[in-house]
Amino acid sequence: MSGFWNVWVWVLTLGTLAGCLWLLQTLTTKRKSKQPEEKDTTGHVWDGDLVELNNPLPRWWLWLFWITGIYMLVYLVVYPGLGTFAGISGWSQVSQYEAEMADAEKRFGNVFAAFADTPIPQLVKDPDALRLGRNIFLNRCTTCHGSDGRGAKGFPNLADAAWLWGNSPEAVVATITNGRTGTMPALGPALGEQGVTEVIVYLRALPKLSGAADPGALTPEAAAGQQRFMGLCVGCHGVDAKGNQILGAADLTDEDWLHGSTDADIRDVLMKGRSNQMPAQSDVLTPDRIRVLAAYVLSLSESSGSQP
Ligand code: HEC
Ligand code: HEC
Repeated sequence: MSGFWNVWVWVLTLGTLAGCLWLLQTLTTKRKSKQPEEKDTTGHVWDGDLVELNNPLPRWWLWLFWITGIYMLVYLVVYPGLGTFAGISGWSQVSQYEAEMADAEKRFGNVFAAFADTPIPQLVKDPDALRLGRNIFLNRCTTCHGSDGRGAKGFPNLADAAWLWGNSPEAVVATITNGRTGTMPALGPALGEQGVTEVIVYLRALPKLSGAADPGALTPEAAAGQQRFMGLCVGCHGVDAKGNQILGAADLTDEDWLHGSTDADIRDVLMKGRSNQMPAQSDVLTPDRIRVLAAYVLSLSESSGSQP
């Protein structure tokens, strides 16, 4: 809060309080010592004999107003309320949140710590661990990867056999802990329209070549695409185009397309590139939780019966 707004809040808050108390003080009808039969009226008379009494408020009622004002002052001294002044109690929403989280960690942390010494491949077969992992997954991962982990365009399917960054327990734990950024450069300028078309023809031919690329088997257009591939793409996707899990470079020989499978989709990736980000979870999930979650993620592809 800047200096001006700080002063603004002080003046507005204390000014309002002072104003309320001043009104209360000046408008209170004073009790006058007078004969009990003497009636204090406002002086207004209707219909000849109808008068308006001006009796003081009951004392207890008045005192409620004063107590409310005093309560407000005490509150403003103890809790944050006056601009940047934090209050003498040191309470804040953040400190309360942190205390509650620490308390929850004390109560539930043990549940996860119990799995800390079990190797992840074993956790993948442990129904209790999977249930806990599933809860975290439903909480934190489904917005991007879907409730069944099957992903969407741009968000990888975690239940299939294709892995950008690898499916060893260590790789999956690292992915979740630190996040990942897959960077495919924009190669439109380097390839040109014609070059992109040739590369796409080559990519389409790849699944049929099943790795053993025999240039003789390629159409001239695909062969031209292969030339370009060997010049521009092998550094990341490899000579066999099977990708590189250290860079998160996709396997281009399978029929599994993260960014869409039509020619137009692939053209778009080549022209514009992609910077695809998996957010790090180390700030929000403890290492024990991440291990249990990794086991659940690995169970998704195992239970679908596919081989890594
Ligand atoms: C904001 C969206 C988002 C959220 C939330 C998210 N992810 Fe991801 N995740 C991605 C993206 C995008 C990628 C692909 C990164 C890339 O292209 O390299 C990815 C990649 C992954 C991978 C690597 C897949 C592979 O093929 O190697 C794993 C494993 C993964 N996420 C697990 C999780 C888990 C577990 C959670 C829940 C804690 C989670 N993700 C939450 C967007 C998200
Ligand atoms: C600097 C490394 C790098 C280079 C060079 C590179 N790529 Fe990529 N490419 C990647 C990465 C990393 C990804 C995964 C992007 C992601 O995580 O979303 C990718 C993704 C792709 C995809 C999308 C795959 C899918 O499943 O949707 C295609 C297609 C592709 N690259 C083709 C090419 C071609 C063709 C070339 C050469 C003309 C090339 N790449 C050069 C790193 C590279």
